[in-house]
Amino acid sequence: MELLKNFIGGEWVESNTGETTESYNPATGEVVGLLTRSNETDVQKAVTVARAAYKTWRLTPAPVRGEILMKIGQALEKHKEELAQLLTREMGKVLAEARGDVQEAIDVAYYFAGEGRRLFGQTMPSELTNKACMTVRDPIGVVAAITAWNFPTAIPAWKMMPALIAGNTVIFKPASDGAVVATALVKVMIEAGVPAGVVNLILGPGNLVGDALVKNPGIDAITFTGSTETGTKMASKAALYNKRISLEMGGKNAIIVMDDADLELAVDGIIWSAYGTTGQRCTACSRVIVHRDVKEELLNKLVEKIKDLKLGNGLDSRVDMGPVINSKQLESIHQYVEIGKAEGARLLIGGEKATEGELAKGSFYKPTLFADVTPDMRIAQEEIFGPVLSVLTIESLAEAIEVNNNTKFGLSGSIYTQNINNVYTAMRDITTGILYVNAGTIGAEVHLPFGGTRGTGNGHREVGTAAIDFFTEWKSIYVDFSGTLQRAQIDNR
Ligand code: UN1
Repeated sequence: MELLKNFIGGEWVESNTGETTESYNPATGEVVGLLTRSNETDVQKAVTVARAAYKTWRLTPAPVRGEILMKIGQALEKHKEELAQLLTREMGKVLAEARGDVQEAIDVAYYFAGEGRRLFGQTMPSELTNKACMTVRDPIGVVAAITAWNFPTAIPAWKMMPALIAGNTVIFKPASDGAVVATALVKVMIEAGVPAGVVNLILGPGNLVGDALVKNPGIDAITFTGSTETGTKMASKAALYNKRISLEMGGKNAIIVMDDADLELAVDGIIWSAYGTTGQRCTACSRVIVHRDVKEELLNKLVEKIKDLKLGNGLDSRVDMGPVINSKQLESIHQYVEIGKAEGARLLIGGEKATEGELAKGSFYKPTLFADVTPDMRIAQEEIFGPVLSVLTIESLAEAIEVNNNTKFGLSGSIYTQNINNVYTAMRDITTGILYVNAGTIGAEVHLPFGGTRGTGNGHREVGTAAIDFFTEWKSIYVDFSGTLQRAQIDNR
């Protein structure tokens, strides 16, 4: 099997460690790729070339950078199907969703291609005569993009496209469970004409390579998507080096179902948000907060739908739900189910690994539903990142909102109701970074800011114009054309 290498300064190079890691298909157990396993030395090489490339890339006119992004979008469209197939093989999501993942990368390439002709600054008046004031956006320098495996093309694109359009160069460190797709993504970017050194790829373990990236003085900013534990550690290290870091981490996203909701619609939204991508989205719905008057009806409808969900290899178009990413995650999900049972939640369906026939070869977990969950239970508070849904019961909108807001995460929320007053109250009082009305918690679009409050992140947002704020520095410029010394705050008084 061909060894997948680092991409540094326009060359594919193996790490000096000589070590390798394997990436497995979670549906079948087969090896999808053999990856070089890098260390600090490889990171240093990538940093050196990224710094050199930055000198010319920052001076390449933004509209010209935009044209390269446009070509990346086109090349991704050309390779969409093969990338999607590979994506399903490497991380398991069903093919329709894998195509959506690649489409999201295409969307973000086109969106930021356009931004190349904007990157607006401002002009403002001066308090002094014959003096002009303006702000411009400067790139930061070299950006490390450390990404998760659950959106192996979309999330890297979310990070790289805004970083690049702003004039930064990039070192991309994908999760090992998505590294084969990441390599394919970089190949497409090269085909589209990204100059050597502008995008570099480093494969290897997160603890070693991630750590080396944060510490390296040649890295100016870090953008991270992954677990709360890793992200928080990384941020505390970044603070020691006074580095800018953007974190996109966990969620405990809820769908509120009020007594006046269209229940059929709510059920469809819940099933899609909880079991789509096998529950492995930061935005996945892992809590339903239902009004007691419609609780039993909702539970019955959910159980009926869950029974119909077909598990299997995501390449099979009849399959609704693929595997979870690996056996470690499978164990962790199952442990949460045991915790839920011990806490006194009522298991309605699922709650075990799926091992019938071909499923035994992969890491499959049955879609799981708990009722009678209370807000203090661990299954109502902690991110499980798998197909496990907890249903909590409330008696009023005020209580629903309180339960919704009372977790350490704050990414995505949703309310199903036909009542306009409920809608506006939820819009005002729900404290997540994203809110859906009469739609599930997943499916954010790339031209709106993406991110969350509390433990989900650290105040930054991805995509949309908000991403440009992270990847640039504001520079304030004053031009005095008076020909005299003018003192701000003192003269002209
Ligand atoms: C993630 O799970 O980290 O809104 C990203 C969504 C997708 C992106 C999810 N567009 O569900």
